[in-house]
Amino acid sequence: MKILVVFYSRTGNTRRVGEEIAKNLNADIDEIIDKKKRNGIIGWLGCGRDALFKKLTEIENKKRPEEYDVAIIGTPVWAGTISSAIRTYLLQNKFNKTAFFCTCGGDKGKTFNEMEKLSTKPQAVLELKYKEINECKGKIKSFCQTFR
Ligand SMILES: Cc1cc2nc3c(=O)[nH]c(=O)nc-3n(C[C@H](O)[C@H](O)[C@H](O)COP(=O)(O)O)c2cc1C
Repeated sequence: MKILVVFYSRTGNTRRVGEEIAKNLNADIDEIIDKKKRNGIIGWLGCGRDALFKKLTEIENKKRPEEYDVAIIGTPVWAGTISSAIRTYLLQNKFNKTAFFCTCGGDKGKTFNEMEKLSTKPQAVLELKYKEINECKGKIKSFCQTFR
């Protein structure tokens, strides 16, 4: 099975999880780049506002998800929903099967429901709080079992 792990990460948490999933499954990785400046307090406020109002952004990525059997898509949770980069990515691409993962402070909110509306029903989902990322190898392993 050909698997793509694709994610956006502003501060590295979602990237760490994505890289661990890809290592487990020997999958290709595609990191989405958001062209909008997202650092500093203004950037932070913009993230929350853009997510809340379902704003799209300009993104860059390298791989075509429709060439993969499964795209495992990861996002940070912003204002209880999908980051702008992943919202844009889901709207701009076509998928065969999907699975979702997210990192958050405490609650994924509507994130996976919104992702499903923009793509397909996921084969599996994984929600991780960023504080548990250091101890999440077991959870990642069992999530990855779905694709073996
Ligand atoms: C603008 C903004 C809004 C956020 N909103 C939420 C939220 O609604 N719920 C939550 O649990 N975490 C929220 N978080 C925390 C992030 O989801 C969490 O820190 C995540 O791991 C960041 O991932 P990253 O390092 O890959 O960017 C928010 C973070 C930011 C920057």
